Amino acid sequence: MITEIIKEPDEASLLRAGEILKNGGLVAFPTETVYGLGANALDADAAKKIYAAKGRPSDNPLIIHLADASDAQKYAYTTPDFDALAERFMPGPLTVILPKRDNIPSEVTGGLESVAVRVPVHPTANALIRAAGVPIAAPSANISGRPSPTRTEHVIADMDGRIDMIIGGDDCDVGVESTIITLATEVPCVLRPGKITVEELREVIPDVTLSSAVMGKYEGAPLSPGMRYKHYSPSAAVTLLDGDYQSIVKFLADKPESGKLCFEGDTEIKAMPNTLVCGSEDNAESQAKLLFAQLREFDENTEIKEIYARMPQSGGVGLAVFNRLIRAAGFTIITL
Ligand code: TXA
Ligand code: MG
Repeated sequence: MITEIIKEPDEASLLRAGEILKNGGLVAFPTETVYGLGANALDADAAKKIYAAKGRPSDNPLIIHLADASDAQKYAYTTPDFDALAERFMPGPLTVILPKRDNIPSEVTGGLESVAVRVPVHPTANALIRAAGVPIAAPSANISGRPSPTRTEHVIADMDGRIDMIIGGDDCDVGVESTIITLATEVPCVLRPGKITVEELREVIPDVTLSSAVMGKYEGAPLSPGMRYKHYSPSAAVTLLDGDYQSIVKFLADKPESGKLCFEGDTEIKAMPNTLVCGSEDNAESQAKLLFAQLREFDENTEIKEIYARMPQSGGVGLAVFNRLIRAAGFTIITL
């Protein structure tokens, strides 16, 4: 398949992309979190094409993207809690799971009776959804298991030749996927941490809980099927290093061949070979923005077989960075 690549979309190309989506095709597009791979969420065959293009297991459900939070009630049974979350956080990097209506095919929800709803704030995403005139089912636009794409070049690397169109844009602002909260359970629960923090969600719904799968390995049937799968991983084996800075410097000093992921202020580590910087230690948002791009950058160097990453702090937005990193590391942590 020949993929049309639009690096700088204008109104005409977005209208064309909307037509492609309406007619059952696949279009990748930027959002404020990561790039998405879109299809018409009302079309079961289009949704199936997403799974094929990504190599994604078909029981892992998709998020539907809407132009306006008030559209959610057309596809899901909304609740007062949803309205309160929408009022505060939509449009923005929040996904809410609700009981689904019959117009959303089960192919989109991986057979579940619930549907994930998100209203992106990115102007290109919003214009595209409006142009399509239908809700857009969109997972991250990576090959399944690889780090999510945060730059146009990442999408081209993974999706060129597999989909109809790639719409490019600037690097994604947030850099990690949306926060996911489910309202389809008895007690509202955060299934995936993101830019919108658990603390912020509790300001709206005080009794929100945090799924145990966020911090650790999930045993049993997860609320979010995506948590079962190996995720966010580059080809090299990632290990997290937990300990004081000087011990980490000593540990890394005799590992010139290994990849190293450190923070802006880590002068000694930055001076070592094969080191990439991922934001500053006290600014989790700066880490989130770069994490996936740096993991992909390590993949460009096939000589690198292992990557050591400094442990991020896990409060606030740091929880999202920590959650992605421990998954990339397959939960391997060395305590120094
Ligand atoms: O920021 C984002 O959310 C990006 C952009 C493109 O919007 N999308 C994204 O989609 O990250 P994806 O498919 O890579 O991750 C969606 C996650 C998966 O872990 C999936 O299992 C979970 O959401 N999910 C979707 N629908 C669900 C449902 N009905 N119940 C439980 N989990 C659900
Ligand atoms: Mg994904």
